[in-house]
Amino acid sequence: MPAYDSIASVYDNINSEIDYSAWADFIENCFNRFLPQKPELVLDLACGTGSMTLELASRGYDMIGADYSEDMLAEAYEKAYDKEMSGILFLKQDMRAFELYGTVGAICCCLDSMNYLTADGDLEKCLGCVHNYLDPDGLFIFDVNTPHKFKNIYGNNHYIFEDNDSYGNVAFCGWQNEYDEETKLCNFYLSVFTEGENGKYTRVDEVQTERCYSKDELTAALMQSGFELIGFFGDWEFNAPKDSCERWYIVARAKK
Ligand SMILES: C[S@@+](CC[C@H](N)C(=O)[O-])C[C@H]1O[C@@H](n2cnc3c(N)ncnc32)[C@H](O)[C@@H]1O
Repeated sequence: MPAYDSIASVYDNINSEIDYSAWADFIENCFNRFLPQKPELVLDLACGTGSMTLELASRGYDMIGADYSEDMLAEAYEKAYDKEMSGILFLKQDMRAFELYGTVGAICCCLDSMNYLTADGDLEKCLGCVHNYLDPDGLFIFDVNTPHKFKNIYGNNHYIFEDNDSYGNVAFCGWQNEYDEETKLCNFYLSVFTEGENGKYTRVDEVQTERCYSKDELTAALMQSGFELIGFFGDWEFNAPKDSCERWYIVARAKK
């Protein structure tokens, strides 16, 4: 079962602090700065519950959302249905070997989804597919958790957090990390408790693994896959990353 299937229904609840509107502004600013014209068709790779897919669709882009978790896609589809956004194509695809019907003008991949490429060669497989399905000079806009975040923020730390969604449902998440500096793999042991209508809580456990990539590894993989690196940014204002940066926003152009 793909990671995320068991927590799909509470995913938006535990990520409610993510500002997808501001993030989409950054993506649109990338289009304005680095493309001669706005792309018509955009792929949201590893789209999860489709928050960015829907945000960009609401701004007039034809959107494809792809993810390998059926349960995450089901949430995305339901959100699109509720908002009467019928034109989005959701595809169940593995980002290491995905297929589209043709090329797209830009591909985004948000919220450290690229860190889920954990096996040797996964990053290159994914970048090969991304390059294949981008128009000439098309943009790939993605982010990763930084080595600083894996080492100093995730480390072997534990957290508990609580959130209320817009319907007033409470979700508690227990989160334990286990980062191995040798393998660069970080296991997250998640236990999510959600309150039901009767006041009783349901517990769902999930183990996820992310891989830490260095700037050099990412740059080399992009070059080898036929990309021109536009930049590593530390924020949505295009500033250079500081050492304390927890997320790099990376923009690359497919050379063909
Ligand atoms: C942290 S979530 C991010 C989801 C979404 N991009 C967002 O911004 O909310 C990571 C997503 O990557 C997906 N994922 C992980 N590995 C994948 C793979 N090999 N192929 C496709 N999707 C994958 C998971 O199913 C999950 O939806």
